[in-house]
Amino acid sequence: MTLPLLLPFDDASLTLGASLLREGKLVAFPTETVYGLGADATNDRAVASIYAAKGRPSFNPLIVHAADKKDFDPFVVWNDTACALARALWPGPITLILKRKEGCPLSLLVSAGLDTVAIRIPNHPVALALLRKTGRPIAAPSANASGFLSPTTAAHVAASLGDKVDLILDGGACPVGLESTVINLATSTPVILRPGGLPLEKIEAVLGTPVPVFHAEAPLSPPSPGMLASHYAPHIPVRLNAEQPEKGEAFLAFGPQHPCSGPVLNLSPSGDVVEAAANLFAMLHRLDRPEHIGIAVSPIPNEGLGLAINDRLRRAAAAR
Ligand code: TXA
Ligand code: MG
Repeated sequence: MTLPLLLPFDDASLTLGASLLREGKLVAFPTETVYGLGADATNDRAVASIYAAKGRPSFNPLIVHAADKKDFDPFVVWNDTACALARALWPGPITLILKRKEGCPLSLLVSAGLDTVAIRIPNHPVALALLRKTGRPIAAPSANASGFLSPTTAAHVAASLGDKVDLILDGGACPVGLESTVINLATSTPVILRPGGLPLEKIEAVLGTPVPVFHAEAPLSPPSPGMLASHYAPHIPVRLNAEQPEKGEAFLAFGPQHPCSGPVLNLSPSGDVVEAAANLFAMLHRLDRPEHIGIAVSPIPNEGLGLAINDRLRRAAAAR
């Protein structure tokens, strides 16, 4: 695999990135959550090349990004709940699923056959600058090969996608480190489809009501295809709620207690779930080595971002 073009973010790489996107090429860029693999969301061929580059099942729809809420007006049917969440929480790590508007100019591929569109304003200077400079809505899944770990650095993108991407804009490590929270607002009651970088508690505070979280284990046909039970997977097995690593296992610890021998990384020695979220994918990447028989992971409290961390860890551990 040849190496992709990887440039530090500056005026010149921004201009190049925007013109590549307008030509229908693929540009990876940082957001506050993870790196995204961007393409012009109005260009069918460009969106199709995202699926090809990721090896992504064609039934898994994509999030459309823009820099301003009004940019989404031609694409979706807004409702009061969505407007309240957008006002309070954007730019930020929350993706809203809304009904697709009649005559919506977005490629049908971004909806992958559904009558809805997922939209988000990312809270990252590089992403916002690129969106403004391009002047088009950008479809962007996480910039990794389908089913594998999400990338939180430009190097992760290069390792996972190689020259399948036309340009990687390097804007450093992603501060949140977990994908956005996905909420379905196209149904009569809002439902969280994917716990993520924005804690459930903050959404409930805006809406003034508890919001149910959809559980992938239950139904056969997940409403959000990304909720497939096995996803976000390292190459070696993952064992959850481990107090200790077994012989040959690497250990992903959380909190002050951890074994002093063997390959150990600690998500947060002080037991902070926000810090743990930011470290999660990068540390899983580092422990995902063929010389280990697996990765044992400490229990993580199920509060705040812990909900999303445990969701990703369950998928990483699910049978493939
Ligand atoms: O933080 C993020 O969300 C990152 C950055 C780049 O924005 N993007 C990301 O995209 O994680 P992706 O494609 O890896 O995950 C998008 C999730 C998937 O679980 C997908 O099934 C779901 O959103 N999704 C997208 N459109 C949907 C729709 N119309 N209805 C239901 N689920 C949808
Ligand atoms: Mg993904």
